[in-house]
Amino acid sequence: MVSFKELGLVNTKKMFEVALERKFAVPGYNINNLEQLQAIIIGCGESESPVIIQISQGARAYANQTMLRYLAQGGVRMAMELGYSLPLVLHLDHGSSFELCKACIDDGFSSVMFDGSHLEYEENIEVTKKVVEYAHERDVSVEAELGVLAGIEEHVKSDVHHYTEPGQVEDFVSRTGCDSLAISIGTSHGAYKFKVEKEEDIPELRFDILQDVRKRLGKFPIVLHGSSSVLKKYVDTINNFGGSLQKAFGIPEEQLRKATQYGVSKINIDTDGRLVFTAMIRKYLYEHPEHFDPRQYLGPARQELIEMIKRKNKEVLGSAGQAIYIK
Ligand code: G3H
Ligand code: 13P
Ligand code: ZN
Repeated sequence: MVSFKELGLVNTKKMFEVALERKFAVPGYNINNLEQLQAIIIGCGESESPVIIQISQGARAYANQTMLRYLAQGGVRMAMELGYSLPLVLHLDHGSSFELCKACIDDGFSSVMFDGSHLEYEENIEVTKKVVEYAHERDVSVEAELGVLAGIEEHVKSDVHHYTEPGQVEDFVSRTGCDSLAISIGTSHGAYKFKVEKEEDIPELRFDILQDVRKRLGKFPIVLHGSSSVLKKYVDTINNFGGSLQKAFGIPEEQLRKATQYGVSKINIDTDGRLVFTAMIRKYLYEHPEHFDPRQYLGPARQELIEMIKRKNKEVLGSAGQAIYIK
């Protein structure tokens, strides 16, 4: 058992207080490997942005849970050595059970998500509350979810959005004691978020629901999952170098900017990082067919991810330069 404090991590409390006050969203970036973690540390360090490093169940299965914990710990040390003053949260993304949340808390995570969005309302409350009780005794933050995003989540598959019912949020938050709430307003996971032919046909998110939730919860951190923008530049590069991603569309960045002004305090981005990596690796290997050292193609992919993170923090989330207010 290890406390996140021994690892040099922080929980989300102060981060969200400042985000709500200063109207920006903290990025939730997912990792599965070393290069993604390095890119997040450098990208957020250089843009002076707080960051939530997210580990999904899939990531734990892929990279080994113990390995990931030490990797995160290494990230904290690396940030210090590079002279970054970087508030860093280690977060379980889409935890499906109390047991998994507990295991992560015992392993040094400073925040966990219990995703009971697929459960009946009362059952979601019951398990979320149990996670909150265990987490809060250890000063760990808890994200919960109400409403189901369309698409496939690790253990949740839905063909349609079940938008969050604003009438439920006050009761849910007060009875569970959760620290932040993920809501469903039209975002979804992955690279195919809309069944449209062209970018111009992408519909608006349900800002009416967001505003209603915000009004009811007041200054309470709201989270948006499934918020990659599926940038055309990287989709085109993938397709130009042998890939095949058809009709891949994400959430336009101006809609995310708007969401930050309406009280969204955390925005989750995974797919955009995956696209950057795949695009750069495909391009590199095509242009350098004689190369076989992973550092040669992973290096440029990591560098491009750093650039993407810096730009998102600055131009979309508004988190760049905010780290100094969080200590
Ligand atoms: O919400 C889903 C995240 O993008 C994690 O994806 O389950 O494939 O690791 P994953
Ligand atoms: P994207 O698939 O849109 O990147 O969403 C990631 C996410 O919500 C992680 O929890
Ligand atoms: Zn998610």
